[in-house]
Amino acid sequence: MKVVKTIQETREIVAAWRKEGLTVGLVPTMGYLHEGPQSWIANSVSENDPTVVSVFVNPIQFGPNEDLEAYPRDLERDMQLVEATGGDLIFNPEPSEMYPSHFTSFIDTTETTELLCGAVRPIHFRGVCTVVGKLFNIVRPDRAYFGQKDAQQLATIRRFVRDLDFGIEIVPCPIIREDDGLAKSSRNTYLNAEERQAALILSKSLALGKKAIEEGEKDAKKVIEIIKSNLSTEPLARIDYVEVVDFENIQRVDTIAGETLVAIAVYIGKTRLIDNFIIG
Ligand code: PAF
Repeated sequence: MKVVKTIQETREIVAAWRKEGLTVGLVPTMGYLHEGPQSWIANSVSENDPTVVSVFVNPIQFGPNEDLEAYPRDLERDMQLVEATGGDLIFNPEPSEMYPSHFTSFIDTTETTELLCGAVRPIHFRGVCTVVGKLFNIVRPDRAYFGQKDAQQLATIRRFVRDLDFGIEIVPCPIIREDDGLAKSSRNTYLNAEERQAALILSKSLALGKKAIEEGEKDAKKVIEIIKSNLSTEPLARIDYVEVVDFENIQRVDTIAGETLVAIAVYIGKTRLIDNFIIG
């Protein structure tokens, strides 16, 4: 398993694989890997020949008051995890390699990024789509793997890949949870012991919403109300949003029918956590 810092060397390695007729998988990550990304890497390893894992904390997807500096980093640990999972190459560029001076071109999206995180993190998805588009052009994978925990990101990447004809298969990977239900996230490391306990309110509240839908509730407003009233029982929780949208277009629905995303973002102390389920 090799760690490569430059676009040029990554391109050369992938080109040699292509000459051999190999199928290439890509797992884009921001590092500090846990069982979530590890499961995506495992999926890629089982469905492709070589797998490339990018480890890059992408500065342009963080707003001015977000956690770019604090975002946890540990390349040594990431290398061990990628190697143990069967990945073949880590692409770990410096920001200056990805964004040389006078970098002024972006992939911008509408529709799928209007609500949820797009509404409260204005430049976030432009940054995500731009870096993912660059990674697609650098690696030119056959398949790329993304977690369903970032469901709006997944829907948005699927959309720009379709709209801009990237010709890459986007493979969704299920949410991986701790035994007590908390969705795994690199940001869980920000939580102290009391906040870690309080964070269970996210998965518990979503479970109540899901149960109501499974028992026949079709009114999106009622499901939102069930989730919000349970979230508000936790004193350390501050709701950012609770939304019910169609998973393809990320637009609000009044009645739950078809593939529907129920998504929440909640501050636990200063840490903003997201979670969701998809139904239908
Ligand atoms: O989900 C993430 O970790 C990031 O948004 C991604 C897709 C690696 C782009 O920086």
